[in-house]
Amino acid sequence: MSNENQPDLGEDYIRLHKVMTRGIEVSKHSIDKYMNEEAMDELNREGFTNYIQSFSAVLHGHHMVEDQKIFPYFKDQLPEVPYPRLTSEHEIFNQGLQEINTATKELTAKNNELESLNLLKSGLNKVDKLWDAHIQIENTQLYGKIRSLDMDPEEMNKIGNESKEFFQAHSGPPYLVIPFVLYNLSLDDRKIISQSFPDEVINQLLFGDWKDKWTSMQPYLLK
Ligand SMILES: [Fe+2]
Ligand SMILES: [Fe+2]
Repeated sequence: MSNENQPDLGEDYIRLHKVMTRGIEVSKHSIDKYMNEEAMDELNREGFTNYIQSFSAVLHGHHMVEDQKIFPYFKDQLPEVPYPRLTSEHEIFNQGLQEINTATKELTAKNNELESLNLLKSGLNKVDKLWDAHIQIENTQLYGKIRSLDMDPEEMNKIGNESKEFFQAHSGPPYLVIPFVLYNLSLDDRKIISQSFPDEVINQLLFGDWKDKWTSMQPYLLK
């Protein structure tokens, strides 16, 4: 029998999908607002570019983890998942991310504001077009089934920690990525995810040197 109280890797990844789903929605909504001429002056450049940069880093790191850690690991236990389709969709997301990253650099440098917002929108649309169907497959056919595999808790922790380290190595900086993940989640989900960070990280985030680096994103984040 599976134990409902055991940590579940699949649920963590379903939560991470929620982070990125909100990231897409908030970014698209903000771009539309800023592209409206009257709202252009309201562009909170530092907060908005930090938010988009964090979104891009999380999405990139997440797909690297799936392609190189999660999919190979679960391939034999959950063989019905359409892994090649998911991986080829990650490629399309990457094309979107290239546009997003170029546009973010331009916006940071205060270059070609309107064109940059257009490019940002184009990149986000490439991701958004496939996103819901993509995570629907992953959530139902892969992450939602991990609990039923009745994995040994130690083994679950091992793959969980390996994936987390790999994600950290391919995303960042942590002072943007960690608050981006936490504060795009509801309070209940945030409480659960917070437990996977050491107290020093949370203290650093809320009271330490990191605080000044991410608070510009607050208008886009949940309280
Ligand atoms: Fe994916
Ligand atoms: Fe995913």
